[in-house]
Amino acid sequence: MADITLRVNGNEKKVSVSPETPLLWVLRDTLALTGTKFGCGAGLCGACTVHVDGSAIRSCSTPVSQVAGKSVTTIEGLSTNGLHALQQAWIAEEVPQCGYCQTGQIMSAAALLAKTPNPTDDQITQVMNGNLCRCGTYERIRKAIHRAASGGAR
Ligand code: FES
Ligand code: FES
Repeated sequence: MADITLRVNGNEKKVSVSPETPLLWVLRDTLALTGTKFGCGAGLCGACTVHVDGSAIRSCSTPVSQVAGKSVTTIEGLSTNGLHALQQAWIAEEVPQCGYCQTGQIMSAAALLAKTPNPTDDQITQVMNGNLCRCGTYERIRKAIHRAASGGAR
């Protein structure tokens, strides 16, 4: 066990866990932030995507010791009121089906838009490629990203 301090959604958190514990389980089990989902546990599906210092990472395969002192953002902290441009676009385009993958999709898309405010289809494909959706909502995800990028209707 070790005491590890990290910033989560703007608040400093000190956790006492094994340093090898995946960040995903610290978020879900220790900090009760269950918006981030477990899919494959092997860095292959993107369901567990969160931001560390602004970059999208797979929390299932990131030991918590690697994010000590860093800033983590989860879906709960993406906006204060659930109205991030992407969340509004997701609602407008009725993107989710079962919903399980959608946290990871939105977090990957948010990291994309933060760096590339007006992405092309190719740029969207390149970044979103690692986020799998068993329900096949890919085209609605693409439309919602374009909608958010353009600041509303499209
Ligand atoms: S659960 Fe992390 S990539 Fe699948
Ligand atoms: S909405 Fe069901 S897995 Fe993506």
